[in-house]
Amino acid sequence: MAIGGLDPRLGTAENYRVFGREARGRSPVYESLAASVADDGLILGFLAGLPRPKRQPNLLFAAARYLLGAPPGIGTLRSLVRQHEAELAQLMLARRTQTNEPARCATLLPALARLPEPLALIEVGASAGLTLLFDRYSYDYDGHLVAGSDPEAPTLRCAVRGPVPRPARLPVIAWRAGLDLNPLDVTRDDDVHWLSCLVWPGESDREQRLAAAVAAARRDPPPVYRGDLRTDLPALAAQAPAGATLVVFHSAVLAYVAAGDRERFARTIRGLAAVWLSNEAPGVVPGLPLTDFREMTFVLGHGGRTPLALADGHGTWLHWLGDADT
Ligand SMILES: C[S@@+](CC[C@H](N)C(=O)[O-])C[C@H]1O[C@@H](n2cnc3c(N)ncnc32)[C@H](O)[C@@H]1O
Repeated sequence: MAIGGLDPRLGTAENYRVFGREARGRSPVYESLAASVADDGLILGFLAGLPRPKRQPNLLFAAARYLLGAPPGIGTLRSLVRQHEAELAQLMLARRTQTNEPARCATLLPALARLPEPLALIEVGASAGLTLLFDRYSYDYDGHLVAGSDPEAPTLRCAVRGPVPRPARLPVIAWRAGLDLNPLDVTRDDDVHWLSCLVWPGESDREQRLAAAVAAARRDPPPVYRGDLRTDLPALAAQAPAGATLVVFHSAVLAYVAAGDRERFARTIRGLAAVWLSNEAPGVVPGLPLTDFREMTFVLGHGGRTPLALADGHGTWLHWLGDADT
């Protein structure tokens, strides 16, 4: 389990220690804050009063940032818990960890671009839909450039290792739809503000990328429908046009779904006439090998059975396994 989710095998303090290690080298502020929270009785006591899924480090830190107007440190976080406990709890109960990282498109694209065109895309757990916009962004795979349709959309830079099948061009996407328990609306300032609070302090490249991706999405917002991946996928899949390769994909989502529900989701998706691509932490996709935990590393999987590549959880590198045809 990794970024954002809570490992149910670990206590809250240990989950904060894991998060602190994930933040190492990316966000010194959160590395140190997470380590401090892991030893802080006041904040751990506050978290113990919340339902378990709401104790996630990223949710606490983003909510504090939202209320404080600046990234929290241990001092400001403790004051917030002491003085505004109810407000903080209310915000954490109302909001979710919905980080939408457009750079994950760079790690998914090589798998997508090998499929017969045109494509019909469904992303489950799509948040604001920024990871549905593959064809708007441009890409730079260690100097291998792929131009997107929107020159003002961000260029996603991704370091490659192994025989990554770098696409010559972007695939034709005939149809796309997202499904989310709580779709965020790129045209609503408050939703966009929440997305920005979820970015870790110190990652200014992510902040800029998010802002540029939101601006691009606002020019033609992606459709993201309210629904639950555990129950509503078949009905959405039935709306996909005939004559296109239906691809159901998800990225940084299944860690938020209970283990038994992941199994049911895997059975549902296998029953659809669809290609299944997953981009999740090791051990999260039922049946997909490579279950070793590595901080900030995702496994790019095909069909819930074949690991294609290892990928940075925030999309900055991709390490293809086997040969390019795997
Ligand atoms: C961390 S975000 C990832 C967003 C996007 N896939 C990305 O990679 O940037 C996880 C998203 O999954 C959604 N989610 C979690 N459980 C879900 C479920 N059972 N059904 C639909 N969406 C769900 C959350 O609301 C959230 O928007």
